[in-house]
Amino acid sequence: MINQFLIDTKVATPVVCGPMYPGSNPELVAAVSEAGGLGVVQPITMTYVYKHDFREGIQLIKSLTDKPFGVNFTLLAGNKRYEKRLHQWMDIAIEEGTKFFLTSLGNPRWVVDRAHQNGIVVYHDITTRKYAQKAIDAGVDGLNCVNNRAGGQTGLASPEDMMNELHDLKLPLVCAGGVGNETDFIKVLEMGYAAVQMGTRFLATNECIVPESYKEAIIRANENDIVWTNKLAGTISSVIRTPDIEKGGLMVNPIFSFLLKQPSTKKLMRTILLLRSMEQHKKVVNRPGYDQIWQAGKGVGNIVEKVPAGEVVKTFHEAYQSIA
Ligand SMILES: Cc1cc2nc3c(=O)[nH]c(=O)nc-3n(C[C@H](O)[C@H](O)[C@H](O)COP(=O)(O)O)c2cc1C
Repeated sequence: MINQFLIDTKVATPVVCGPMYPGSNPELVAAVSEAGGLGVVQPITMTYVYKHDFREGIQLIKSLTDKPFGVNFTLLAGNKRYEKRLHQWMDIAIEEGTKFFLTSLGNPRWVVDRAHQNGIVVYHDITTRKYAQKAIDAGVDGLNCVNNRAGGQTGLASPEDMMNELHDLKLPLVCAGGVGNETDFIKVLEMGYAAVQMGTRFLATNECIVPESYKEAIIRANENDIVWTNKLAGTISSVIRTPDIEKGGLMVNPIFSFLLKQPSTKKLMRTILLLRSMEQHKKVVNRPGYDQIWQAGKGVGNIVEKVPAGEVVKTFHEAYQSIA
């Protein structure tokens, strides 16, 4: 059967290592791509957490693999300094020959225009049909469907419900969330998804530079240990239940909650929360034990050991071969 995702990305296995703040160090991105999956760079992680110059980080990936990898662009508007950075990162990604962009938030139209002029495909993160339609109107090539099992910022609908809502849209759909092993992978492919995007599974690999305590927590946890909090970004994020994350409650206080709902203050409040949690997450990597805020999705129940990232891709490839 033709798999449009494989045609778009030119990879052998329909498995994406999703962008992660923190978690997407260049060595991990390269290991996934080298094994035949698609590693995706998170530029803020690359430069701010792991302290690579963006171009040098991309060149490090290229020194480790000559296979395709992607770059994620979070389209936050309104901050001139960030917007300038975004354009610089995009220029570099194009110059360095990246052929896959994954966009999050915002309207991806201007990215699609630049990307298509340079032979680059663009997939966009969506959580509902409304956002899917906007992305299609902007000309994207595929949709990354973030569901309610995902680690990091979480969607609201199950993988099944998202498929029912989106299957007629005629673009490749990637299932982002809750896939921990090859059985989960086959299950979502059989629902009709063209590929999976995983974060949590790849955190618990040899190449990922997060503390061992984080990897062990993923291996120990089961689905019921995953809780939702809106304290990290103002929207729902999935994290492992720990005393640190439960300190003071999982949800913001009533005043913050009120301000998050007001159109005039919503953006500011989200920015405050996001900047605060970015600092905390950076310390998760650079100062292990500082604060145990561990983002993870519901696939944790099926993640039972730390393995090399390439082994994850290889196992999934074999499973894919059995049904392709
Ligand atoms: C620690 C962590 C950080 C993440 N950071 C980002 C991010 O910065 N940008 C983004 O688009 N997605 C981010 N994600 C989402 C992943 O790219 C991916 O879609 C998600 O992890 C899939 O769900 P899973 O964790 O259940 O596999 C993050 C996920 C995790 C677990």
